[in-house]
Amino acid sequence: MASFQTLPGFREFYPDAMARRNHLFRLWRQTATAFGFAEYDAPVLEPLDLYKTKSGNEIEAQLFSFTDKGGREVALRPEMTPTVCRLVGEKASALKRPIKWFSIAEFYRYERMQKGRGRCFFQFNADIFGEPGIEAETELIALLTQCLCGFGLTAEDFFIRLSDRNLWFYFLEALGFDDARSRSLLTAVDRYEKLGDEAFKEDAAQFGPLDEERRARILAFLAIRSLPALEAAVASLASERIAARLEDWRRLLGNLDAMGLSRFVEVDLGVVRGLAYYTGFVFEAFDRKGELRALAGGGRYDDLVGKLGYAEMPAVGFAIGDMTFALLLEQRGLMPTLVQAPDVYVVIGGPAERRAAFGDIHALRSAGYRVEYPMREMAFGKQFKAAAESGARLALIYGTDELAKGVVKVRDLGERSEREVPVVHVLGEVRGFFSGE
Ligand code: HAM
Repeated sequence: MASFQTLPGFREFYPDAMARRNHLFRLWRQTATAFGFAEYDAPVLEPLDLYKTKSGNEIEAQLFSFTDKGGREVALRPEMTPTVCRLVGEKASALKRPIKWFSIAEFYRYERMQKGRGRCFFQFNADIFGEPGIEAETELIALLTQCLCGFGLTAEDFFIRLSDRNLWFYFLEALGFDDARSRSLLTAVDRYEKLGDEAFKEDAAQFGPLDEERRARILAFLAIRSLPALEAAVASLASERIAARLEDWRRLLGNLDAMGLSRFVEVDLGVVRGLAYYTGFVFEAFDRKGELRALAGGGRYDDLVGKLGYAEMPAVGFAIGDMTFALLLEQRGLMPTLVQAPDVYVVIGGPAERRAAFGDIHALRSAGYRVEYPMREMAFGKQFKAAAESGARLALIYGTDELAKGVVKVRDLGERSEREVPVVHVLGEVRGFFSGE
C-alpha cells in the first residue's frame, strides 16, 4: 500500500459519502432560504490575528497556523464568526437590516480526535446582525430547530439547551462576586458537566474557596430546568436588571411556544459556551440520549463587530457541525441511501448504431437527463444487465434491425414494457415519459 495516507482527522469523500454530505447541505440551504437568509462565503485562510483573543483560548490553541511566503502570520479558519463580522463590518452602512446570512463551509481545528470530532469539519452557520432584541434569538432558534427537523428528527431525538450569560453575570453579581471572579466561575460552570466539583478547584486556587452557601446557590442555579424554577431562584435577589432580563426570557420562550417549538427548548444554565465573544443568550443542541457531543452551538455576541474595529453591531448566530449530525441521522435510520441512478441507459448494437445513438445521447444530456451508455462495445445481454443494475428508469435500444426500420426501442425498465419509436421522436418520448411521472 502506498504510504500517502490522509492526515489524522482529515476526511476524504468517496462518492457515496459525498452524496450524504450534499444531502445535508441541500436541505440546510433550502431551509435557510425559506427563512429568508442569504448565502455568503469567505476565505479559508485568514490573518492569525483575527482569532487571537477573539475566539478564546481553546480555539487559539487549536489553530492550524503558519507564516506564509510573504511573512504573514496566517491561520486556517477554525470558525466563521470573526470572518462574518468583518464582512458585515466592512459594508455595514450599505446593508439592509436586519442582516440575515448563512454559509456552509469547512473549518480546521487541531483537536484531540474523538467520536464526532475531527480536525476538519463542515459547519452550517446562520447569523443575524443589527437586531438587538430577542426577535433575533427567536428566528435563529426556529431556524436551528427546522434545520434538524427537516431531516425527520423530532423532539424525541434532540433538544436545545437555552442559557444566558447576562443572567449569570447579574446573578453572580447579586451574590457578591466581582466581574473577574464571575468570569472565572463561568469557566468553571462550563467545565462542571465534565469534571463535577473538580471544575471549581482551579477557580478556588485563584480566588480562594467558595463558601458553602454560595456554592449551593450556584449548583441550584445549574439544576434549573424551567422558567418558573428560574423565576423562583432569583425572586429573593432584588435586582432590576434581573427582573428586566426575566422579561426577555418570558418573551423569548413565549415566541418559541407560539411557533410550536417549546418541546425542543429547555432552560439549562449549565451551558455557558467556551468561546470568548458571547454576551447574552447562548444555546446548544444535543441528542436526547446524551450519547453524542454537541450538534450545534451559538448565541449572542454584541461586541465582536466593534472589537474588530468597526461600528458596534448587535449579532446572534449559531453553527451546526456536520459530523455529530450525520452520526445522529445514521443512528436514527434517517440517512437515506442516496443512489445516483441515471434516468436513461442506452443499449447499442455496433459501431454504426453507436454513431446514431451518440447524437441522441448528447441531445438528451443537453436537455438535462442523466444518460449512461457502455463506453465499449458489449454483448446485448451484458448491456441489459448493466442497464438493470444502473437503476435507470428507461432503456433506449439502438439495434441494427431497429435502425434499419428507422426506429429505436424504448423499454420501461420498471414495468418491463417496450415499444418502438421513430428515431426522430426519441427526445420527445423520453420527455413525455419523465414529465408524466
Ligand atoms: P462551536 O460550538 O465551536 O461554535 O461549534 C459549533 C458546532 O460545530 C459544534 O456544536 C459541533 O457540532 C461542530 N464542531 C466544532 N468543532 C468540531 C470539530 N473539531 N469536529 C467536528 N465538529 C465540530 C462555533 O463555531 C461558533 N462560531 C458558532 C456561532 C456562529 N456562534 C455564532 N455564530
